[in-house]
Amino acid sequence: MPNIIDAVVTKLLFKKPQEEVYSNLDRMFSKKKNSWNYSKSEYELRRHKKIIEFVKQIPHKTILEVGCAEGHLAKKLTEISAHVTAIDVSPIAVKRAQINAPKAKVKLAKLEDFKIPKEKFDVIVCADVLCYLKDKEAVVTRIEELGNYLVMSNGYVFPFLVEPYFFRFKLLKRSLVANLKEGRTKFASITAWKLS
Ligand SMILES: C[S@@+](CC[C@H](N)C(=O)[O-])C[C@H]1O[C@@H](n2cnc3c(N)ncnc32)[C@H](O)[C@@H]1O
Repeated sequence: MPNIIDAVVTKLLFKKPQEEVYSNLDRMFSKKKNSWNYSKSEYELRRHKKIIEFVKQIPHKTILEVGCAEGHLAKKLTEISAHVTAIDVSPIAVKRAQINAPKAKVKLAKLEDFKIPKEKFDVIVCADVLCYLKDKEAVVTRIEELGNYLVMSNGYVFPFLVEPYFFRFKLLKRSLVANLKEGRTKFASITAWKLS
């Protein structure tokens, strides 16, 4: 579905080519560990908790986490599923995720290149990743090819903006996680969808 507002915001914010965005992410990981403070931030912990809660309510025998960063959420996913695959574009993040989430199959891969499996994953978890991607239409198609359900979170300036791309799917659940305490105000919209 065309999403004019997101397309305009993406155009305004996304001045760099996609590959440069990816190499900047890797550079960010090289400079600092745990940049988003996933292990301590009250907001991030609540966001992860809500994501896990949503995943537990849908079939989740096999899970693909797209954009796993250093594996904090992937580790929590391995506590509810024995078959977690986690991918990221950053080689540095992937190495750390392999240590932080030892029970997950962590691979260096981009969502757009990740091989479509013979059998779809039960659930794709795509949390705070879409803001890095220019071509959202292609992303939606890819996610649909990969899984039966989607749990996503979108935060900062993108809480609801990207959701219209998914309106052709059935929205199962929505929740908002807000942070008003830790410095900058942050909101994340967490949603669960039945794909196709
Ligand atoms: C903000 S972190 C989110 C980490 C985790 N999903 C969470 O919510 O705790 C976004 C991650 O997505 C990764 N990423 C961005 N674009 C990607 C793509 N096309 N395929 C796979 N990973 C991607 C980045 O390298 C980064 O590690």
